[in-house]
Amino acid sequence: MHNKFSLVLLGSLLATGSPLAFAAPDWAKVSKRDIHVFHAGATPIEWVTKKSDHSGTAGLKKGESCVGCHEEKGGLNFDFKRLADKTFEPVGAPKTMSFPVTVQAAYDKENLYMRLTFKAPADAAANAPREDAGPKHEIKAAIMLAGNKTPQAAQLGCWAACHADVRSMPGADAKKKKYVSNANVAGGVFYDYIQWKSGEGGKGATQIDGHVAAERVNKGGTALIKADGENKGGVYTVTFTRKLSGGEGDLALAEGQVIPFGVAIHTDKTIYRFHHVSLGYTLGLGADGDIKASKQ
Ligand code: HEC
Repeated sequence: MHNKFSLVLLGSLLATGSPLAFAAPDWAKVSKRDIHVFHAGATPIEWVTKKSDHSGTAGLKKGESCVGCHEEKGGLNFDFKRLADKTFEPVGAPKTMSFPVTVQAAYDKENLYMRLTFKAPADAAANAPREDAGPKHEIKAAIMLAGNKTPQAAQLGCWAACHADVRSMPGADAKKKKYVSNANVAGGVFYDYIQWKSGEGGKGATQIDGHVAAERVNKGGTALIKADGENKGGVYTVTFTRKLSGGEGDLALAEGQVIPFGVAIHTDKTIYRFHHVSLGYTLGLGADGDIKASKQ
């Protein structure tokens, strides 16, 4: 199994003739941490931080994190019936409200390697908007790494980029993309963003290296070397190879850092907010974190 995987990787390396040689980690030796992604409905930062809406507000002010209150016994303690209800999801909730994603990370002198493994539910669309033009991506898997000055990023995960007025939120502008308030890329107030898309029947598969600042930008990053995905009977394995250094909108990573991050997975060809998202976790590069990247 492991040998086969290495062979696939090697094959794709040779096929693209990438001049950037990198040593993929031996994933069998890299520790695993399951995090659960869920359909959050319309619960943007404005909802999460409004006292009359969400009783976690006071705890958030005191420095508690979403994970601290909502992760329990290896899963999430949300009331999914409530989240699937019209008040939170006026468009139609997926049948599978939550599923586990196994996260692994490793790094060496040059690169960060992250791997997500999950069984993708095929029942997410309900009445949600879906891909209707271009390659019809069954699956999209993304990781957002928070800039070190993004306010409360370690507590909020991706919620600092999730606002009530972005497209597909109830009553919102159909064109407005996700954003961070008072964003400043040079000042570290933004999210670095990498995504793998499955393409139609594996064709047209593609990757994005962008960022989310004053708005979401789907290009410009130069850190992502490769995003690879494999589907084996509905179980997806998505691997990102990312340089520690990077260009515009890429976080400069280094050993010793603890980086807040979140994962978002679109299944069943859904788009916009109709994804399953994780709460905010931390990635430790040779440091403690929810996910500890092992040194190669
Ligand atoms: C101090 C603990 C605490 C923190 C921190 C906290 N929450 Fe909550 N959250 C709660 C409680 C209690 C409820 C249930 C009652 C309510 O809605 O207020 C809840 C409800 C929710 C719900 C609605 C679903 C349900 O189970 O009722 C969502 C979604 C949610 N929280 C998301 C978040 C997110 C995202 C964060 C981080 C940005 C967060 N919470 C931080 C305590 C917390």
